[in-house]
Amino acid sequence: MRSLPVSVSFYSIINAIIILAGAIALIIGFGISGRHSIAVTTFTSAGNLGEDSILSCTFEPDIKLNGIIIQWQKEGTAGSVHEFRGGRDDLSQQHEAFRGRTALFSDQVIVGNASLRLKSVRLTDAGTYQCLIVTSKGKGSAHLEYKTGAFSMPEMNVDFNASSESLRCEAPRWLPQPTVAWTSQVDQGADFSQVSNTSFELNSENVTLKVVSVLYNATVNHTYSCVIENDIAKATGDIKVTDSEIKRQSRLQLLNSKASPGAAALGPLGWTLLPLMLK
Ligand SMILES: *[C@@H]1O[C@H](CO)[C@@H](O)[C@H](O)[C@H]1NC(C)=O
Ligand SMILES: *[C@@H]1O[C@H](CO)[C@@H](O)[C@H](O)[C@H]1NC(C)=O
Ligand SMILES: *[C@@H]1O[C@H](CO)[C@@H](O)[C@H](O)[C@H]1NC(C)=O
Ligand SMILES: *[C@@H]1O[C@H](CO)[C@@H](O)[C@H](O)[C@H]1NC(C)=O
Ligand SMILES: *[C@@H]1O[C@H](CO)[C@@H](O)[C@H](O)[C@H]1NC(C)=O
Ligand SMILES: *[C@@H]1O[C@H](CO)[C@@H](O)[C@H](O)[C@H]1NC(C)=O
Repeated sequence: MRSLPVSVSFYSIINAIIILAGAIALIIGFGISGRHSIAVTTFTSAGNLGEDSILSCTFEPDIKLNGIIIQWQKEGTAGSVHEFRGGRDDLSQQHEAFRGRTALFSDQVIVGNASLRLKSVRLTDAGTYQCLIVTSKGKGSAHLEYKTGAFSMPEMNVDFNASSESLRCEAPRWLPQPTVAWTSQVDQGADFSQVSNTSFELNSENVTLKVVSVLYNATVNHTYSCVIENDIAKATGDIKVTDSEIKRQSRLQLLNSKASPGAAALGPLGWTLLPLMLK
C-alpha cells in the first residue's frame, strides 16, 4: 500500500513526458509539412450489385483547381482506385479492378465534392476506402466503410390464389438474406410470424435471392406493412385492401448513411494521446 502514491506520481510524470513529446512531435510535424489540415468528410455508402453507386466525400473547397489532388484508395488494394490532379484524372496508378468503372464529378471538385462514381458494383468492391485530399490550404483524409449487396423495393399484392384473404410481398433481389416481418398499423406490436410464410429463392445468376412473403387472413380496411431488412438496406411495402380499392406504397432506405468526420486532426498528437486516454 505504501508504494501506491509513488507509483501514481511515477505514472503522472510518464504521462507528462508523453504529452510533452506529443506536443513537440506535433510542432515538428507542422514545421516539416508546412501545411495545415483541412476538413474531409465521408459518408458510409452501400452499393447495389450490378448498379451504379456513389462513394461520398466532401472537403473544404479551394479555388485553385490546379493545386487540388484527390486520391481514392482501397485498403488492401495496390495502386489507386481513382486519382485527380492538375485539374484532370490521372489513372496511371489505377488498379485493374477499377478500370473503366470510376469517375469523379469533375465540375463539382471546385465546390469541395470529391465523391466517386462507381459503375456496375461488384460484391468484391466492399471494403474500407480512403478519400485523401491535398489543396493549397493543406491536406486531409477520411475513411469510409463501403458495403455491397443487393436490395430492391417490394411489390405488394393481394394473393388471389389463397383460400383466405392473403397479402403477398415480393422483392426480386436481396443479398445477404434479409429478415422479413409483417406489421399492422391498427394492431401495433402484433406478431404475425405464425400467420405468414416467407421463402427465399435463388435467382438464376445464383447470387441474389428473390423474397416472397405471404400474410394469411388479412383484415379488410387495415394497413399492413412488409418490412425487409439486412445490414445494408431496409425496404417497406404498405398495402391496404378496402371494399373498393387496393392502396399500396413502398419505400427503400439505406442503413448507416452517417457521416464520418475526417481524421485530419489525428496527426502525431492523436497517436500519442490515444494510449493515455485508454489508461
Ligand atoms: C457531388 O455531386 C454529385 C453530382 O452533382 C451529387 O450527386 C452528389 O450528391 C454530390 N455529393 C455531395 C456529398 O454533395
Ligand atoms: C396462381 O395460380 C395460377 C394457376 O393455378 C398460377 O399460374 C399463378 O402463378 C398463381 N399466382 C401466384 C401469385 O401464385
Ligand atoms: C385463417 O382463418 C381461418 C378461419 O378463421 C382459419 O381456419 C385458418 O387457420 C387461418 N389461417 C391461418 C394461417 O392462421
Ligand atoms: C411456405 O411457402 C413455401 C413456398 O411457397 C411452401 O412450400 C410451404 O408449404 C409454405 N408453408 C406453409 C406453412 O404454408
Ligand atoms: C446456377 O447453378 C445451377 C445449379 O448449380 C447451374 O446449373 C447454373 O448453370 C448456374 N447458373 C449460373 C448463371 O451460374
Ligand atoms: C371499410 O371502410 C369503409 C369506409 O370507411 C366502410 O364503408 C366499410 O364498411 C369498411 N369495411 C369493413 C369490412 O369494415
